[in-house]
Amino acid sequence: MNHPLRKVVVPAAGLGTRFLPATKAIPKEMLPIVDTPTIQLIVEEALSAGAQEVVLVNGRGKGAIEDHFDRAYELEDQLQRKGKKELFEEVRRISDSVRLVSVRQKEPLGLGHAVLAARHAVGTEWFGVLLGDDVVDADEPAIGQLVRFARKTGKAAVALMPVPETQVHLYGVAAGRAIEGGHVEVDRIVEKPPRDRAPSTLAVVGRYVLPPDVFDILANLPAGAGGEIQLTDALAVLAQQKRLLGVRIQGVRHDAGDRLGYVQANVAYALKRPDLREPLLAWLREVVK
Ligand code: G1P
Repeated sequence: MNHPLRKVVVPAAGLGTRFLPATKAIPKEMLPIVDTPTIQLIVEEALSAGAQEVVLVNGRGKGAIEDHFDRAYELEDQLQRKGKKELFEEVRRISDSVRLVSVRQKEPLGLGHAVLAARHAVGTEWFGVLLGDDVVDADEPAIGQLVRFARKTGKAAVALMPVPETQVHLYGVAAGRAIEGGHVEVDRIVEKPPRDRAPSTLAVVGRYVLPPDVFDILANLPAGAGGEIQLTDALAVLAQQKRLLGVRIQGVRHDAGDRLGYVQANVAYALKRPDLREPLLAWLREVVK
């Protein structure tokens, strides 16, 4: 990779069954961390790493995500009339900040299949992938950390994080030659291995920087774990070609796709808000007594 990252793909076609009934009529990507939809946190991470265009891989009934990044004329008009300048500017900033392209994943055939649906919108350049379930609170945006290594080495990059052995079956798991900084030249990567077959305890976090030829790899993959086309299996091909770097990301990762992780993310982000921190701490001390 020898140019800035311009485009990122954000898969958002899932049904959000883990968050029913909240997700019956609302896309799970619109569920807020404090007051900000998770998809907005993800988009802001990509923008702060220099991305200019977000390719949203959407499914049926996910129109609210596009509306969120569009102008909201009536709302903006009301906010302006009522002199709510800061709120108006915040709402306007969201829609003006990003160019959103939306493509459809017509069948739920897996993460690799979702990324492949973005092929024509991405074209022939390097691109990022950010999964909305992984919210990473970091000084340097997680996807930006990957871009830095991809540019330095010319290799594709995947974010890694150590997890307890009891959790490896929930993740892609990678191993390879350790290099400076705890990063890894990946030579093996497996999607959701049983504990006794995991190559390590380094789990894939949902951030990737990928070359355009990964689309050819994805298009030719057989179904993998769970009968789905797995992005991890495409990464395994890149790893065999010695073209994949595992980047140990700095930052705190929350699994916002899990109910407990989601609640924890809300508490953690609320504790970072100057107006919420003290009253929340006081209340937490009260309830955990
Ligand atoms: C996906 C990927 C997996 C990765 C995980 C990170 O799985 O397939 O490799 O470790 O995201 O959150 P999912 O959690 O969507 O099942």
